[in-house]
Amino acid sequence: MIFLDHVSVDFSRRKQQAVRAVDDVSLHIKRGEVFGIVGASGAGKSTVLRTINLLTRPSSGSVMVNNARVDALSGLALRRQRQKIGMIFQHFNLMHTRTVAGNVAFSLRAAGKSSAEIAQRVPEILALVGLSDKADAFPAQLSGGQKQRVGIARAIVNRPEVLLCDEPTSALDLETSASILALLKEINTRLGITLVLISHEMTVIKNICDRVTVMTGGKVVEEGDVFDIFAAPRHEFTRQLVSHSFNLELPPRLMQDLRGTLLKIMFVGASAEQPVLSQATARFGVSVNILHGKIEYIGYRALGLLVALLTHPDRPEQVAAAVQYIRENTAQVEVLHG
Ligand SMILES: Nc1ncnc2c1ncn2[C@@H]1O[C@H](COP(=O)(O)OP(=O)(O)O)[C@@H](O)[C@H]1O
Ligand SMILES: [Mg+2]
Repeated sequence: MIFLDHVSVDFSRRKQQAVRAVDDVSLHIKRGEVFGIVGASGAGKSTVLRTINLLTRPSSGSVMVNNARVDALSGLALRRQRQKIGMIFQHFNLMHTRTVAGNVAFSLRAAGKSSAEIAQRVPEILALVGLSDKADAFPAQLSGGQKQRVGIARAIVNRPEVLLCDEPTSALDLETSASILALLKEINTRLGITLVLISHEMTVIKNICDRVTVMTGGKVVEEGDVFDIFAAPRHEFTRQLVSHSFNLELPPRLMQDLRGTLLKIMFVGASAEQPVLSQATARFGVSVNILHGKIEYIGYRALGLLVALLTHPDRPEQVAAAVQYIRENTAQVEVLHG
């Protein structure tokens, strides 16, 4: 549905060399999916997103939406194209002098809708985002989560095909963030709106996205199904992001006193069902002490993670052999210590 083909964006700066914010990025976003873009601050995520609705024009490369090139559009054609694409922001960007209903009505009026249609659509869309009782409130009277609901209402009221979400939950607490992600997912499934969502957090991506692209330094370094990226990140930067999101850190004091080999083990699918650790114990005579563990659910698939300490009373080579055995029978093994 959306194709970015070798898109680069340079920003010129006075008296200095231009900054290449986006460097040769190619993406394919399919109709109906939730597509994530993850990366650190300054990676070029927002700039990529803005090339989709042409808030930013590519310096080179092309942008196709529904098989039509859009990066050369201007005037009326550009405005029409933009109406098919809604956008929400980290800091909501609401109009503070208008009520909730007024903010939503503004979008409809800008799209040339009649007063009758506006009167009908505003309550409908406010009900959809759970703000029926806030129609007459001003943004300053709302919580962060409610403000983002207004942002969403305003962005989807003209029934766009695509909703661009630029860090939609980064200004919200965890619980509110989860409720906004649930609302976005509902909009995706119920209304069939394709979502493109930026985040700097893998947990957000894990929650809602089908596929994800990982950006660093203006470039895409990795792309794939969210589950696969979590189960087997290939690029070092992705590995760090994924590892950080699992939050399996051990207290530093514990790390100092460790004797033995400390492993982080990931189980995926069939390997999760095999009693790999007890087999390692039986075969190699090692002791296994589990220090940390959890199961992450991504969509309906489970990803098991364990941090385990392997020791042998007198034969360290047995520990090495056990590590090798575990490595062969699980998705991924990382030696954290020893
Ligand atoms: N309008 C602009 N003018 C000049 N430089 C910009 C502009 N927008 C973004 N940049 C620069 O481009 C790079 C990527 O920015 P951005 O796309 O906002 O990254 P992200 O959203 O991943 O944090 C940064 O170095 C940023 O400073
Ligand atoms: Mg950004």
